[in-house]
Amino acid sequence: MQEILIGEDKIKQAVERIGKQISEDYSGRKLLVIGILKGSFVFMADLVRAIKVDDCAVDFISASSYRSGTVSSGNVVVGKFDKDVSEYDILLVEDILDTGRTLACIKETLMAKNPKSIRICTLLDKPSRRVTDINAEYVGFEIEDRFVIGYGLDFDQKYRNLPYIGEYIPEN
Ligand code: IMP
Ligand code: MG
Repeated sequence: MQEILIGEDKIKQAVERIGKQISEDYSGRKLLVIGILKGSFVFMADLVRAIKVDDCAVDFISASSYRSGTVSSGNVVVGKFDKDVSEYDILLVEDILDTGRTLACIKETLMAKNPKSIRICTLLDKPSRRVTDINAEYVGFEIEDRFVIGYGLDFDQKYRNLPYIGEYIPEN
């Protein structure tokens, strides 16, 4: 069961707004947009098409935080990432910023590779859940502490294909 929280039109407007801001901020720079798999793949696909920067490369990195049900275990495993990023300004793209543990780990991993800069773009932000000092420079929507699905976000690997963001409501 799910209830629509953010519809397709609102998502589209947020993507346009963020894409425009990123295009201005990175104009003339060498930008590397890195999506965090799997949740970011839908947002990534829409966002990169709203970014008008000439020198823009795209890549992905994987991270799993082993959740049981809707609760994160706190153990983050970051996948292999070999690219030389020393000439790039990196923009990390995430579906949702929750405790911040995933992004803290990925940011640390990439910082060690000496990029020009690293910023974070997240479609959804649940600030009330944060346990790290990680924050995003670009945010689509701030939401309350509810478990959401759709537009890339899953519950138990399901619902990533929904075109809107819904709240996951267990059937009991
Ligand atoms: P963090 O490390 O706690 O910030 O967790 C981030 C990851 O947990 C996200 O990339 C999502 O995969 C997952 N996550 C956190 N909240 C939700 C949610 O409400 N719905 C679906 N996945 C979530
Ligand atoms: Mg994720």
